Amino acid sequence: MKFDRHRRLRKSEFMRDLVRETSLRKDDLIYPIFVVERDNVKKEIPSMKGVYQISLNLLEEELKEVYELGIKSVIFFGVPNHKDDVGSGAYDENGIVQEACKLSKKLYPDLIVILDTCLCEYTDHGHCGVIDPNTKDVDNDKTLPLLIETAVSQAKAGADIIAPSNMMDGFVTEIRKGLDDAGFYHVPIMSYGIKYASKFYGPFRDAAESTPSFGDRRTYQMDPANRLEALRELESDTREGADMMIVKPALSYLDIIRDVRNNSNLPIIAYNVSGEYSMTVNAIEQGLLDEEVIVEQMLSIKRAGADMIITYFAKDLCKKINEGAI
Ligand code: PBG
Repeated sequence: MKFDRHRRLRKSEFMRDLVRETSLRKDDLIYPIFVVERDNVKKEIPSMKGVYQISLNLLEEELKEVYELGIKSVIFFGVPNHKDDVGSGAYDENGIVQEACKLSKKLYPDLIVILDTCLCEYTDHGHCGVIDPNTKDVDNDKTLPLLIETAVSQAKAGADIIAPSNMMDGFVTEIRKGLDDAGFYHVPIMSYGIKYASKFYGPFRDAAESTPSFGDRRTYQMDPANRLEALRELESDTREGADMMIVKPALSYLDIIRDVRNNSNLPIIAYNVSGEYSMTVNAIEQGLLDEEVIVEQMLSIKRAGADMIITYFAKDLCKKINEGAI
């Protein structure tokens, strides 16, 4: 025989099932929810079809759906009524995500609540920290105490996991210390430490009303051209005590997910971000692509090495998994 017969293992459905290397499980999926402080809002985000801004007083219904589908973890993003230059809504003990978290823990105590530790949704200028008036750039070390305060207020509200996404240097060290000092040594940190300055976040900024009013985030988020820099971030966050690592975005950064997988024993989470979601939804809606591309995208993320995926498709995927279609 002069050639290899790869098709032997592809010849039937059951045979393909038997040799399949990657799978998508409900346990892998984390669902993002945008909670608004204004009452009685359930508004579809124009740039993110199928994703809503939801008021606290309407959140119960949403959580019920999520829980009954079998989703085990959610991440809340807040849209506050009040914004100021120091993002005080982020560390208000009765702030919007703190209240969403308390409600969720009361209704579904076992549903894992992840809270995003960042100031951008709460600052009037839309940046992820406080601005140095001289340089007009985010002041790293002046931001850190506010992030600690935010993380502690989130832990007090009952958050199961703290997910800092602000990209300040030292945030893992500082937040870990802050949580430990406040008695929250059991609360893990899921670090968004490998976060690129990506245009794929565009629709999220509509949803979270967090577009910077001047400049951009390139002095704190990573350059999309860089690969080794991700390993330096990984090294620092691991040394500083991160329990899990997020890579973000996902689909244009599959090489980075693989690099992180090959260089770390921590659980890895990929954030399938808003722009990735919207591109896919639009292509499907226009009839350009079949909706099965969603599963293919998720499998590519898992194949690259991610253990979990934060995705706006989580509910749709769970429905398919429940129907046995995946
Ligand atoms: C910042 C944050 C962002 C996203 C998650 N957390 C936006 C940003 O850095 O501008 C983006 C997620 C997405 O695009 O889906 N708190």
